[in-house]
Amino acid sequence: MRGYGRYLLGWHVLQSRVESLLEQNAVEQLLPDWPRRRRAHLVAQDIAASGGRAPHLGVRAAPPLDAAGVLGTAYVVEGATLGASVLLPRFLERGVATEANSTFLAACAVASVETWPSFLETLRRFESEVSPDAVVEAAERTFAWAREAFLRPVRPQARLASRPSSP
Ligand code: HEM
Repeated sequence: MRGYGRYLLGWHVLQSRVESLLEQNAVEQLLPDWPRRRRAHLVAQDIAASGGRAPHLGVRAAPPLDAAGVLGTAYVVEGATLGASVLLPRFLERGVATEANSTFLAACAVASVETWPSFLETLRRFESEVSPDAVVEAAERTFAWAREAFLRPVRPQARLASRPSSP
């Protein structure tokens, strides 16, 4: 699989893994507007709108997180919203994506303006309470998950089933 389909599959794996980990670790206590930040369902929706099927990912072992772990993990997916205002217009202009199958990127573009600034405020508020090294460590682990998600998203038998004409 290539192009936008592969991009969506990578995000499906990463965003679902991160959201599920954060939700198991009381993310709403640190980010009370967490429901607005959930986007994994939009990736699955975009895969379906592209003619594919989001693979079932199963449960993966995950470390319990303290406040530093929650903040460092969330940092990666929240910060990643910043690229959407660059990518979305390019994808639409080039016909790589359509409005119908880019709800995740559209939500990221909104989040980069509406919820990224308040994430940074939260990070600053906790500056004296959490170990910066622990925040960085959680972010680095999440970046490693991102690398894995985009390079080797799922087991071969669970790969996205898509129509031959889809990207
Ligand atoms: C999984 C993690 C991430 C991925 C896959 C990702 C991917 C991308 C991509 C593809 C772009 C567009 C580059 C281009 O062609 O110009 C971009 C832009 C950008 N990203 Fe990320 N990113 C991630 C995490 C982050 C984080 C954590 C931050 C900051 C905290 C960040 C900040 C930015 C900024 C500032 C831009 C440029 C936006 C602009 O030019 O207005 N990204 N990102």
